[in-house]
Amino acid sequence: MSSSIERFDRKARREFGRFGRTVVHRGELLRHPAYTRVLHWSVAFAFILSLLSGFAIYSPWLYRWLTPLFGGGPMTRFLHPWFGLLFTIFFFFQFLNWFVPMQWTSNDSRWMRRIRAYVSNEEKRESEETGFFNGGQKLYFWTIVVSAVLFLVTGILMWFDNVVPRWVVAVSYVVHDIAALVMLAGFIIHIYEGTAAAPGTFRSMVDGTVTDEWARTHHPAWFADGEKINPDE
Ligand code: HEM
Repeated sequence: MSSSIERFDRKARREFGRFGRTVVHRGELLRHPAYTRVLHWSVAFAFILSLLSGFAIYSPWLYRWLTPLFGGGPMTRFLHPWFGLLFTIFFFFQFLNWFVPMQWTSNDSRWMRRIRAYVSNEEKRESEETGFFNGGQKLYFWTIVVSAVLFLVTGILMWFDNVVPRWVVAVSYVVHDIAALVMLAGFIIHIYEGTAAAPGTFRSMVDGTVTDEWARTHHPAWFADGEKINPDE
């Protein structure tokens, strides 16, 4: 399966590389090609729209102030499933894009056992075996995969509540809301980790590059591995 995904993905990167090139200066490494960046920000855009419209529907009492953004209450309710669908579609391509580097390994299980030291910032440098993504990033990715499937299935069941049995719709509401809360928590941690926690990370999703020093500090095995993914090929 992974080789056909890789083939598809390589082709998509190549096609995209024609429209947006990434400039890598001396002392920098290419981390995220144009294709990955466009996918990432498309996912983020659709996710934030889904989140805001979802909150407005979930608790109008608390979040009524959000509905004018979408053209009023009924319009927010109408748009939310479409935003959700957009999120799922964009993330599906992101899933294909990152399926290979997100494969879980025994290094990641060891990383998870040291998570306390990571969170408390005791170690300034990641362990030597940390590759392109660390265990925490992979956990976040796979949490989104599971949540996206749950969102899609339960979302469709709720969308067609006129034909779906009432108890199934009721269970779907609960599962949908739990998935949303898990995603919200992950999203807050993710923004912190991608910006303030590790300076130099955010630019990787803007201009696609990181410094050698950043790579050596946060992803030593990726830095040591001569064969970097070559993105805009
Ligand atoms: C809007 C604020 C966001 C910021 C500032 C942000 C920032 C970043 C950055 C800088 C990276 C690259 C990390 C690296 O190369 O090591 C990244 C990766 C990633 N982003 Fe985002 N992101 C945002 C929103 C989102 C959203 C809404 C999702 C999905 C729901 C998402 C999913 C991911 C995933 C799965 C990765 C790869 C794993 C990881 O680095 O955790 N991001 N993000």
